[in-house]
Amino acid sequence: MNQIDTIIQSASQLPPFPAVLQRVLQLIDDPKSSAQDLVEVIQYDQSITANVLMVCNSAYFGLRRSVFSVREALVRIGFNQLLEIVLSYGSAHLFSRAYRGYDLAAGDLWRHSVACALLSQIISGRLHREKTAIQFTAALLHDIGKIVLNEFVADHLQGIRKLVQEKELSFLAAEKEVLGIDHAELGGVISEKWKFPKTIVAGIRYHHSPSLTPEDREMVCLISLCDLIAMMTGFGGGADGLAYNADKEIMKQYRLSAKDIGGIMAELEERLKQVEQLLNLQ
Ligand SMILES: [Fe+2]
Ligand SMILES: [Fe+2]
Repeated sequence: MNQIDTIIQSASQLPPFPAVLQRVLQLIDDPKSSAQDLVEVIQYDQSITANVLMVCNSAYFGLRRSVFSVREALVRIGFNQLLEIVLSYGSAHLFSRAYRGYDLAAGDLWRHSVACALLSQIISGRLHREKTAIQFTAALLHDIGKIVLNEFVADHLQGIRKLVQEKELSFLAAEKEVLGIDHAELGGVISEKWKFPKTIVAGIRYHHSPSLTPEDREMVCLISLCDLIAMMTGFGGGADGLAYNADKEIMKQYRLSAKDIGGIMAELEERLKQVEQLLNLQ
């Protein structure tokens, strides 16, 4: 069996994506679904419900009366915030462990993932574009390929680093050269296996090469930009750090000045601190 087959086989041995979250992803992809459908799906998951109630009743929301059900939480904090809590909490188990191949300590990949998800909203807000649940989710899950590729990168880290340093390849190109597949492509394979909506699969597969995406180019470019800014802010720069070639199309498309980027970074730091405190994951 060659290396790529071994890697793909190890991806197929991943435990299934939590059913509740899979259902949530289907709902946000379905224009006919309602906020009530979201409540129906999550209210039977004890740990998500407990977390939603704990977060809603925290000082951050400053609600005068405590919330006792997911339905009440929806009314009090709104659909988008409820969804953010569910997804950020739900993905913590996937991303929060250490990923040594990428030099990421425990919590680093989760912080990077949530930083990207928050950035998708911060940037959309500043550009007066719609903040969608799909882009939040794609940004949150964009590096999912790393959770499988990690151990293979760890075994070949010296060879990958050598290519980055000596041949000036991007970390992604070096992964592909040494392992036959990179974490973005593998993320695409995993997210198809987990039956994620097509737009999310595209966001994951093309987050380092948005100009190649066959669909949802605008969203994929946004994910790519969020990834770069998260790394520039210092969230999630592990072994691969800034060893990526920024896709020129993104920078051209967004025309962000250094001042804009500084403002976005400051807002990100503030919001990420709040999320970490709220979810108690610091
Ligand atoms: Fe990536
Ligand atoms: Fe990333």
